[in-house]
Amino acid sequence: MNDADAPAFAPLTRHDSTQVCIVGAGIAGLSLAYRLVCAGRAVVVLEDGDVANGVSARTTGHLTAMLDDRYFELARVHGDEGARLAAASHTAAIDDIEANVRAAGIDCDFQRVDGFLFTAADRDPDELRSEFEAAQAAGLAVEWLVQAPAPFTGPAIKLPRQAQLHALKYLYGLARAVVAAGGRIYTNTHVATIVGGARPLVETAQGLRVQAEHIAVMTNTPVNLRVALHTKQMAYRTYAVACAIPRGDFPRALFWDTGDPYHYVRVQRFDAQRDWLIVGGEDHKTGQADDGDARFKRLESWLKHFVPRAEPPAYRWSGQIMEPVDGLAFIGLEPGEERVFVATGDSGNGLTHAAIAARVIADAILGRENPWRDLYDPARKRVGTVREYVGENLNTATQYADWLKPAELRSTAELAPGDGGILREGMRKVAAYRDAQGRLHLFSATCPHLGCIVHWNATEKSWDCPCHGSRFDADGRVVNGPANRDLAAHERRRGGRLS
Ligand code: FES
Repeated sequence: MNDADAPAFAPLTRHDSTQVCIVGAGIAGLSLAYRLVCAGRAVVVLEDGDVANGVSARTTGHLTAMLDDRYFELARVHGDEGARLAAASHTAAIDDIEANVRAAGIDCDFQRVDGFLFTAADRDPDELRSEFEAAQAAGLAVEWLVQAPAPFTGPAIKLPRQAQLHALKYLYGLARAVVAAGGRIYTNTHVATIVGGARPLVETAQGLRVQAEHIAVMTNTPVNLRVALHTKQMAYRTYAVACAIPRGDFPRALFWDTGDPYHYVRVQRFDAQRDWLIVGGEDHKTGQADDGDARFKRLESWLKHFVPRAEPPAYRWSGQIMEPVDGLAFIGLEPGEERVFVATGDSGNGLTHAAIAARVIADAILGRENPWRDLYDPARKRVGTVREYVGENLNTATQYADWLKPAELRSTAELAPGDGGILREGMRKVAAYRDAQGRLHLFSATCPHLGCIVHWNATEKSWDCPCHGSRFDADGRVVNGPANRDLAAHERRRGGRLS
């Protein structure tokens, strides 16, 4: 797929008003917009960049009701009924996506396929049996296999009628369908402020306002909240490679293992003789590792072990996942608000969580009951998550110790073109990037969200915050929340020394 397939939209150029204003034109925002325009609501979607150019563009397109967090864990934290509702909601989410594909006539390679969970080489096989029993108790039509389909070995859990799609094609089709049904989409429009209350509105960086009856912030992680929710989820980077393989060397199905981090793999049609084999995994906390090349190589050697005739990777990319402390996304009213909704905490199941968010939030706006509302309520408290909550926040707290650490570089002379690193100027930490022409770009290394020190990500050429996952491109422009402002340009002090 090339850029010519992407629908083009203009930026917002004047004040506007609507019934529902959606911030973010990724999978969650567009899914909600489509549902609402189909229900006859007036909708405006505002997107910082272009349609589907954020985290949604990085998904590998797996659709399954077998979640990243095990059903025995979900039952422990959310109870048996919570696990059952989670299974039902993700199953319905796949149906909703299929219904959208059909209704809007979207050509996105949507296909029903079976899903298989198998035991990673270094994991306890009993975990798989526990998951099988918990998934069955949650109402999923799982089957126990003594032998996983080749090329994998050992037992596996099979869940029939899962699905896969080409996410970008789906999102472009969804955007066109929203506009065809009367919705308005504005791109390259940065929302600077979101005001709740009885008459909510959003204000853009250019000072333009959109007044609405309801606002939905569908930005992967909410850019309108400083603290609430950001202490209940942790940002991870995940890696993926795509290799051409002879057709028939790998079955057309979804596979993932019980490793930690786990591997996930599927095929996508390439040409007349070959498929793409897409493999993901090797996750780490955002901003807490910078060894992307090594992770890509480990993915490649993992897939070569199972599919020896795989060609070298033609594509390598990484994406961001928001991992909630209790395994389920946060979807619904922003805590303390009556007309502002959020959706975040997608875990590794962003496509189905987005479809669930579309149903839950649309039902709330339309005044309909929804059986999953309480399960996904962003204000929920689950007693079983105290240990995880404390652990994650301890990890965040230790990141502030970066302020006390020495600089990574002794001087800017150590930076080759295309490299970035952290220096000090007195008490201040400075993010330094040398571009391909050798010019130096200096920014404050202080994340504008809550003040952690950003780290250089050599794979993505970005500045990543280890606390709550904000990311900035090499030029300091924000590309991932929760920060909603760019890194500040660094003003050299007279006589100040960078070291
Ligand atoms: Fe919260 Fe950077 S993302 S401090």
